[in-house]
Amino acid sequence: MNKLSIIRSNISALANLHGKKSKLDNLPTYFWLEPTNNCNLKCVMCPTGMDMLEVDKGFMDFDLYKKIIDEIKNYTSAVTLAVSGESLYHPKFFEMARYAADSGIKPLLNTNATMLTPNKAEMLLDSGITFISFAFDGFKKSQYEKARVGADFDKTLGNIINFLELKKSKGKDLPYTVLSILMLGLEECSEEEKREFLARFDGLIDEIRVREVSTWGSSFKNSDNFSFRQNSLYYPPCSRLWSTGVISWDGTVLPCIYDSNHELAMGNVKEQSFADIWNGDSMLKLRNSMLDGTFLKYSPLCENCIVLGTPPIMGIPSGIRLTIADSITNVFGYGFERMALLLANKLRKGNFTSKTVN
Ligand SMILES: C[S@@+](CC[C@H](N)C(=O)[O-])C[C@H]1O[C@@H](n2cnc3c(N)ncnc32)[C@H](O)[C@@H]1O
Ligand code: SF4
Repeated sequence: MNKLSIIRSNISALANLHGKKSKLDNLPTYFWLEPTNNCNLKCVMCPTGMDMLEVDKGFMDFDLYKKIIDEIKNYTSAVTLAVSGESLYHPKFFEMARYAADSGIKPLLNTNATMLTPNKAEMLLDSGITFISFAFDGFKKSQYEKARVGADFDKTLGNIINFLELKKSKGKDLPYTVLSILMLGLEECSEEEKREFLARFDGLIDEIRVREVSTWGSSFKNSDNFSFRQNSLYYPPCSRLWSTGVISWDGTVLPCIYDSNHELAMGNVKEQSFADIWNGDSMLKLRNSMLDGTFLKYSPLCENCIVLGTPPIMGIPSGIRLTIADSITNVFGYGFERMALLLANKLRKGNFTSKTVN
């Protein structure tokens, strides 16, 4: 798919959203595919880690994965290979990334990096992955290990630094690397401790982002596991339903990455094409509930969701900025995302969901 068509498709998504259309002539340019919903950690802010999944757990079959990529490559720019689990657990993760890259789709990864051995670091660098977000929620050992239960601060940090040094020694520009730190409020940390920690990444990482934690749809809406912002207002419709696709390890199409329990399953790509599901009755009903304001009755999952609780900027809703930024990144590179994030934070006057700190 060429870069211009991806931009055009995003403009159509925005026009369909503002035109209050529920049946869409655009398909998503950005997908989340779930290699697995299994995980080795017990993170306090994650339904997978907190054993809240009531659906079967498993690993996506490689033939199913290829079938999905073969369909969506005609209209997709990027695919994040992670939803509710740790993707480096999947025995064919590197083949999955390579298959997407060879099909003209940028494969992206979110990982906890606990399994990123030196051998896997080599394989990851050669897999065609263009973007990695390393989840590392804390500036010091006690803070990190309270959030990422089961992970060892020094070992995981060592894995990440080793990967970054390897990338540097090979002179590679890609993957673009981000250290993602969720602000969970589990433990205080001094400015000096923060500075000391961040200095370890000097000259190695492309970007460090601190991020506001979400209630993962409604999963943690009443939880005291961590501190979070309550939605004082909602800003429907959720633009992700107009712009992004989510497919779980067993082929179930979900409206949203936060639907870890498949409460709003829209269909299955083993039985239907993604394009048919995208404009199927269930998707249309959900989009209509967003347009007429009845979404909380139709989709309790949306209660207190961070995407719906974040105001639009210049008429562009929070959810769709991801795909718009991605499509512009195709032309100007990942540096653009950093600039866009800096600009968005300026316009938000200090309120942020994600903020660059280096
Ligand atoms: C569910 S994880 C799956 C990928 C991988 N296991 C990891 O931890 O990065 C995907 C992303 O969700 C983030 N995440 C987990 N719980 C969250 C929450 N309650 N609010 C916001 N982000 C969350 C993680 O930091 C990570 O960036
Ligand atoms: S946030 Fe990632 S690493 Fe932590 S439990 Fe969830 S899926 Fe696993």
